[in-house]
Amino acid sequence: MNRKKVTIAELQEKKQKKQKITMLTAYDYPTARILDQAGIDTVLVGDSGGMVALGYESTVPVTMEEMLFMSKAVARGIKSAFVIADMPFMSYQASDEKAVENAARFIKEAGCDAVKLEGGSEFASTVRAIVRAGIPVCAHIGLTPQTATMLSGFKVQGKDAEGARRLIQAAKDLEEAGAFMIVFECIPHSLAAKITEALKIPTIGIGAGKDCDGQVLVYHDTVGLFERFIPKFAKQYIQLTPIIRDAVTQYKTEVEAGTFPGPEHVFTMNQEELDKLY
Ligand code: KIV
Repeated sequence: MNRKKVTIAELQEKKQKKQKITMLTAYDYPTARILDQAGIDTVLVGDSGGMVALGYESTVPVTMEEMLFMSKAVARGIKSAFVIADMPFMSYQASDEKAVENAARFIKEAGCDAVKLEGGSEFASTVRAIVRAGIPVCAHIGLTPQTATMLSGFKVQGKDAEGARRLIQAAKDLEEAGAFMIVFECIPHSLAAKITEALKIPTIGIGAGKDCDGQVLVYHDTVGLFERFIPKFAKQYIQLTPIIRDAVTQYKTEVEAGTFPGPEHVFTMNQEELDKLY
């Protein structure tokens, strides 16, 4: 199937037409190709890659260079999907100038279409600065894993009136600052539904219920490639880990038994020529 490149206007149109937007994460070239072939609308090079692809304990240690490395590989595998790169912890918090510089690297060097950053109303000026530079920004509110310590852990956000009010305000401020889309992570589904209705820009939920304009999941959770834990909001569509482990075990057994490589895997040469050499 030959799809055209997905645009911000099309994502916006999907919200208006009440067609759901699909997003999955990817961190490498082969995965990016599979998601693109499957017709996923937007591919997020999440800093979750720090955990599921690079093995860190959290998303905090992931560096700009690591995010760029993964983003470049993903962008090379995409023909149509809209590619969003996550700005890692401390790549945008210190100053708006630094944020613009780092955001630009994802566009110029990695070939991504947009960046995503975590944070509420306090990051409206950062979003505004990056958008002013001509770079589309996806906002991310609710549970923001980079600053989970400030939130006293990985907890659902906006469950009380004060927390909900803060999220409603943040969503408004970020939209007003120019964000083209907003991710809600781990917020009550009824609150996500209300904010989605109130905003003009599309909302993408992860642990935020079905009434968001779209959904995102971490690819490794959906295909069973991350075994440390499975979040309540994730759905595992297949368990690839045991399938891959079985294939690798079979390879090991065959190499050890001398049954791989077989005659169909080898190259031949003239035996007389070889005999002359030895
Ligand atoms: O890094 C990530 O994968 C994310 C999604 C969970 C939205 O930010």
